[in-house]
Amino acid sequence: MAVVTGASSGIGAATAVRLAAEGFQVVAAARRRDRLDALAAEHDAITAVTLDVTDDASVAALAAELPDVALLVNNAGGAFGLADVASSEVSDWQRMYDVNVLGAVRMVKALLPALAAGAGGHVVFTGSIAGHTPYEKGGGYVAAKHAEAALSQMLRLELNGRPVRVSEVAPGMVRTEEFSLVRFGGDRERADAVYQGVSQPLLAEDVADVIAWVATRPAHVDIDLVVVKPLAQAAPHKVHREG
Ligand SMILES: NC(=O)c1ccc[n+]([C@@H]2O[C@H](COP(=O)([O-])OP(=O)(O)OC[C@H]3O[C@@H](n4cnc5c(N)ncnc54)[C@H](OP(=O)(O)O)[C@@H]3O)[C@@H](O)[C@H]2O)c1
Repeated sequence: MAVVTGASSGIGAATAVRLAAEGFQVVAAARRRDRLDALAAEHDAITAVTLDVTDDASVAALAAELPDVALLVNNAGGAFGLADVASSEVSDWQRMYDVNVLGAVRMVKALLPALAAGAGGHVVFTGSIAGHTPYEKGGGYVAAKHAEAALSQMLRLELNGRPVRVSEVAPGMVRTEEFSLVRFGGDRERADAVYQGVSQPLLAEDVADVIAWVATRPAHVDIDLVVVKPLAQAAPHKVHREG
């Protein structure tokens, strides 16, 4: 059984579909149940479960239903705002820390007994290049994704000797339907400008492909970190744009 958080759109939805194609039974979890139900209706191996990773009771309810988990993909997350530190909103930093970092901590704490049981398990974080290279105005998102990368590294150290692999997949620019729209509070023009002139940003399926590869290595092979960017992006702040 694989659990994918943030599976109602973008990378999480593509990962749920890809893992189902790889033969996993997949629990697709997020807040928007209608989207999860639509995904589950199209794929027999996908089950929809409502989950808010910022809510202890919601995470506990999910864990109570799942005695057997082989793979947890901590993917729920996102950015709110793009502002320098001096003018950023503390509340945005708090929300980003809660969903990207504490959400993953809640999931790991709740599912670790199931992941460490039997043949063992695997925790994969959807991090970001923002978690490895700071960029101006990245603010709370850069900080939260750095914390998520640190969480992945700490967990690997702490679980050493137990049958649980820990991996991080850190994408660069991925053109998903909602990521930039959420970041800019629904401002379509600002969201579209992120990808303007970039010939081929990554797609959600490209990242799902990497997550599936990481998750399907033999049990003794632990991929620590995969950084994946579109060809046009040399670094978070260095993107080739046409025209
Ligand atoms: N797009 C990029 O350029 C990019 C690059 C690097 C890394 N990433 C990372 O990749 C992950 C997925 O991003 P994406 O591009 O696929 O964005 P997205 O389409 O906005 O997906 C975010 C997902 O997280 C879910 N989510 C948000 N808050 C949640 C909560 N409290 N509880 C449960 N689920 C929650 C959303 O579903 P609900 O609203 O239905 O809950 C949605 O399914 C994020 O961690 C993001 O930081 C994205």
